[in-house]
Amino acid sequence: MQFEDAQKRVEELRQLLTRYGYEYYVLDQPTVPDSEYDKLMQELIKLEEQFPELRTTNSPSQRVGGEALEGFKKVEHEIPMLSLGNAFNESDLRDFDRRVRQAIGETSYVCELKIDGLAVSLRYENGQFVQGSTRGDGTVGEDITTNLRTVRSIPLQLNEEVTIEVRGEVFMPKKSFIKLNQEREENGEDLFANPRNAAAGSLRQLDPKVAASRNLDVFLYAIGENNLDHLQRHSEGLDYLDRLGLKTNKERRICQTIDEVLQYIEEWKEKRPHLPYEIDGIVIKVDRYDQQEALGTTVKSPRWAIAYKFPAEEVMTKLTNIELSVGRTGVVTPTAILDPVRVAGTTVQRASLHNEDLIKEKDIRIGDYVIIRKAGDIIPEVVQSVVEKRTGEEVPFSMPTHCPACGSELIRLEEEVALRCINPKCPAQIREGLIHFVSRNAMNIEGLGEKVITQLFDNHLVNDVADIYKLERDQLLQLERMGEKSVQNLLTAIETSKDNSLERLLFGLGIRHVGAKAAKILAEHYGDIDSLMKAGEEDLQVIDEIGEKMANSIVTYFQAPEVEELITELKDLGVNVTYKGPHIKNAVNVKSPVAGKTIVLTGKLEVLSRNKAKEKLELLGAKVTGSVSKKTDIVIAGSEAGSKLTKAQDLGIEIWNEEQLQALFNQ
Ligand code: IVH
Repeated sequence: MQFEDAQKRVEELRQLLTRYGYEYYVLDQPTVPDSEYDKLMQELIKLEEQFPELRTTNSPSQRVGGEALEGFKKVEHEIPMLSLGNAFNESDLRDFDRRVRQAIGETSYVCELKIDGLAVSLRYENGQFVQGSTRGDGTVGEDITTNLRTVRSIPLQLNEEVTIEVRGEVFMPKKSFIKLNQEREENGEDLFANPRNAAAGSLRQLDPKVAASRNLDVFLYAIGENNLDHLQRHSEGLDYLDRLGLKTNKERRICQTIDEVLQYIEEWKEKRPHLPYEIDGIVIKVDRYDQQEALGTTVKSPRWAIAYKFPAEEVMTKLTNIELSVGRTGVVTPTAILDPVRVAGTTVQRASLHNEDLIKEKDIRIGDYVIIRKAGDIIPEVVQSVVEKRTGEEVPFSMPTHCPACGSELIRLEEEVALRCINPKCPAQIREGLIHFVSRNAMNIEGLGEKVITQLFDNHLVNDVADIYKLERDQLLQLERMGEKSVQNLLTAIETSKDNSLERLLFGLGIRHVGAKAAKILAEHYGDIDSLMKAGEEDLQVIDEIGEKMANSIVTYFQAPEVEELITELKDLGVNVTYKGPHIKNAVNVKSPVAGKTIVLTGKLEVLSRNKAKEKLELLGAKVTGSVSKKTDIVIAGSEAGSKLTKAQDLGIEIWNEEQLQALFNQ
């Protein structure tokens, strides 16, 4: 493509992608399928790669997270980012209303949800996103622009060429939080206590790829520095932010009296558990800007606004038992079994007690009355036992020394609080592994849930994941509640799963530390399981996202003879072991002189075999193909190179000898 054509197309693609992104992330009303978006994005990435002079920092392709930072720069807030005074009950709110009306007379309020996340400030110059920062101490915050760029609902460009600073809250939706913690649990990482900590933790990462992977979102709720004079009210200000393409929360309401405010609060106490994100209260703001100014601020907070804080709902119930479960990785977790009780919108009957240390620390005994609360209003937790209600019948708990499923001795790994069963043949672990293998993010075999797997496993019909692909109609018909139709559907689902792209299999195998995301990266990078199985720790660590721990775990996993057997068996059964998705990662992430280049190897190489050279080049992000064409960037010619070399010379393609190739590998 000619430069001018590319320039035009890049412009077009950016406009389309910006619009589709806005519809998807800000309005929550997508108009095109994800696949269309992905296709256009890849086209853009390709063109920007081909014509580096067309790259811009605010291109929609630049959301993946660039280079890691050494540290965060400080940013001074011209207008301090204040916090809010708190109200905990009706009388606090009536006092606030009285103070306001005494000072300025008749007024109206805007009520908004108090989003439980992290306050940020975003600067736009001539409509372009130029800087984002944290609140810090209110006067000086930290520059987290690179992380904020990865938040899809933050537009990189506004609908008007204004220069404006806006403020809002970055948060993690409840679903993303639960998923993130599930992944972390599977990978043996520490869990985040609530979505707020998860959001804060993500924005504080120096490597923007972490933030990019965390599915953060934003609501803007105020205008900071600006030179606008057409706005008279906060409510108009929020409508204006909408027009600029910024995301605001739509549940706001203008209230004329404090009684209307109280009504709004009552409504949201009810509706709160059903929101897809966390709120911890309601913010009440005087609407008119001139009245806000007249009221002014104290050192800490404005006099024209107040935050009503919801009380954390806590209930009492009886802890009837402590159950132990053995996870896929052998970790033995105690769970409190509770008399069912309603808290923050759902009925709770179980709560994880995490580990023995925690139970000891809180002195929780079987038979105790306990206080239950939802951590971050999602995950039930036992706050404490109610000692006054003890009868003397309560039984202190201690962890067993042996696995409740297989009887092997439990061990405590260095630096871990958890107890683990390390018997690879432990039936509980195998069963959990099977459940994981068929789960949605792994092989995604519909109809093969926990109950069916348990039956198959207990009846010795399935002992390892390969057995799933050997199941026959008659065997399935014997199971409880399995009719002709469900058996047929299940067999079809199993058959279909054979065609999955490699990353599903890799994730499903349950290699320690390899979550769904890492599996995708590995699959994309290696293309097929054989290449991955041959990779050494150092090769693996060439990939940005793969650290020492994961590399070690992958190599150890594939070294086991039974794993090799299993993979061979899966292949024989017709399970696909190649990557079928798009190839964008190499081009975007790998920083090497040959990243994204198309290379042809020809002739005899002395030091390395051609295959080995191909593998190494691919590790560096190059695409290695068999024939020379106009699309070829480099031809590497060994001795006795023939027609391919001639063709490359004819086409004026860059030609390297083996020494140059070695120099590249040694870099
Ligand atoms: S207004 C000067 N509106 O709550 C007033 N704050 O305790 C600036 N927050 O630091 C804040 N949702 O991080 C405002 N709709 C909302 C909010 C909100 C959440 C946070 C914000 C602020 C804290 C105050």
